[in-house]
Amino acid sequence: MARVARKGADVVVTKSVGLEPRKGYPGPNITVSHSGLLNAVGLTNPGIDSFLDELRILKRHNIPFVISVFGRTEKEISQVARIAVEAEPSALELNLSCPHAEISQIAHSTKLTGDFVSAVKDTVSIPVFAKLTPNASDIVAVGLAAEEAGADAIVAINTVQGMKIDITQKAPVLANKVGGLSGPPIFPVAVRCIYDLYHAVSIPIIGVGGVSTWEDAVEMHLAGASAIQIGTATLRGLDVFADIQEGVEEYLVREGFSKTSEIVGLAGGN
Ligand SMILES: Cc1cc2nc3c(=O)[nH]c(=O)nc-3n(C[C@H](O)[C@H](O)[C@H](O)COP(=O)(O)O)c2cc1C
Repeated sequence: MARVARKGADVVVTKSVGLEPRKGYPGPNITVSHSGLLNAVGLTNPGIDSFLDELRILKRHNIPFVISVFGRTEKEISQVARIAVEAEPSALELNLSCPHAEISQIAHSTKLTGDFVSAVKDTVSIPVFAKLTPNASDIVAVGLAAEEAGADAIVAINTVQGMKIDITQKAPVLANKVGGLSGPPIFPVAVRCIYDLYHAVSIPIIGVGGVSTWEDAVEMHLAGASAIQIGTATLRGLDVFADIQEGVEEYLVREGFSKTSEIVGLAGGN
């Protein structure tokens, strides 16, 4: 995480962490498909207590970070949140939407999303972001529920549920069979979700999903994203942060803008 920050990311978001250590799924838990990644890691994490020590190192280096937390119940996610704030993150991101774990259904439901967000908001006093899934039948309704429950921002999108079959083995490649697709193939899905959410909610949207070039970042801002996360594209190297920042800055100058906020949502209303 420190390396990512040194390479130009303004903020780093941790891997999701839960109450107890968790091994995740056996391999194969990641594969390549259609220029994207299909993963079913299974929320591998060391548990919030052990993770705090690592996060304190980030704090000492003055690196702004957001902790992604998850829990199977409102009580559990609130417990994780209560411990996580001890590391003094800038915000908490609620993973309500991992498509290959038991928490996958939370962000399919307006009720559950509202309940999980409210529970964490009642527990902590730092900003809380709700991470949503494109697999929900109505992501806008879920986004509105998160906003109503007090979410300070929406993060869109988590991975798109998918599968890959090995034609020689005639069986699914991933041990978990189903995984989450990330990278370039999901970019247009993310743009659509952000565009629709932008025209419905009043809280900021953090865009994520398939961004790998400065053109993608500009497109996502125009759709309505105030900030952008980059995941899969880091596999090509950590220069992606500086390259994208430089490209966006040059675009802004060429187009007569002075800051990114001026282009957020400029792609027009519904
Ligand atoms: C290997 C892998 C692990 C991931 N783990 C998490 C996670 O722990 N929590 C979470 O909210 N999203 C997780 N994601 C989803 C990403 O944060 C992101 O929403 C998604 O990959 C789309 O962005 P990208 O195309 O830039 O990677 C993971 C994605 C990948 C590829």
